[in-house]
Amino acid sequence: MEHRGTKVLETERLILRPWRETDAEEAFENWMNDPEVTKYLTWRPHGDIAVTRMLLSAWTEEAGEINNYHWAIVLKEGRVLIGDISVMHVDEYQETGNVGYCMGRCWWGRGLMTEAFREVLRYCFKEVGFYRVSGSHAADNIGSARVMEKCGLKTEGTRRRAFRLLLSGERVDIVDRGILREEYRG
Ligand SMILES: CC(C)(COP(=O)(O)OP(=O)(O)OC[C@H]1O[C@@H](n2cnc3c(N)ncnc32)[C@H](O)[C@@H]1OP(=O)(O)O)[C@@H](O)C(=O)NCCC(=O)NCCS
Repeated sequence: MEHRGTKVLETERLILRPWRETDAEEAFENWMNDPEVTKYLTWRPHGDIAVTRMLLSAWTEEAGEINNYHWAIVLKEGRVLIGDISVMHVDEYQETGNVGYCMGRCWWGRGLMTEAFREVLRYCFKEVGFYRVSGSHAADNIGSARVMEKCGLKTEGTRRRAFRLLLSGERVDIVDRGILREEYRG
């Protein structure tokens, strides 16, 4: 595996690029303050744009690091910032990483996250040399389950009631999935 960092990636409808501090307003407006988006996530709606600014300041600092894989998702049409996708917990010896993503509600259901994730997988397997990419989602999060399925991640198991939703307090099952280098079909 040879680290290449958050290189700018392009798909038919999207540009995936490193985060910038100046993204705060759009990210806050488009999804970071929306309880519907954060329903299954490990963070709460920001509530105040100051929170978004602090976060993006940290993300921008990390953006140039060679082992950082964290993209802002920009819709080519109108150049709108619509979401976020990253490969977290990157382990250089294991050649593994775990993908997380989210997107503003207005853009759901158009195949856009599948398009972004497919490109990130191509980059991980074909350019960086990952061996395994994993992802996890709440069992009820059908949209995320479909994205991972469409991208070829196989179900590996279910952790019963492993996560408590931050806003409702409900305990949900977490489904773990993954795809290996030899399974990747592009
Ligand atoms: C999960 C998320 C990224 C999906 O993005 P998206 O661009 O809408 O995904 P896609 O359009 O590529 O695919 C979604 C699929 O799920 C399906 N889907 C979504 N919600 C569904 C529901 N409630 N019931 C049945 N199918 C559903 C869509 O029909 C589509 O499947 P299809 O292509 O077979 O028609 C987006 O909903 C999101 O940001 N959610 C909030 C954050 C989040 O949950 N992140 C993931 C944490 S693990």
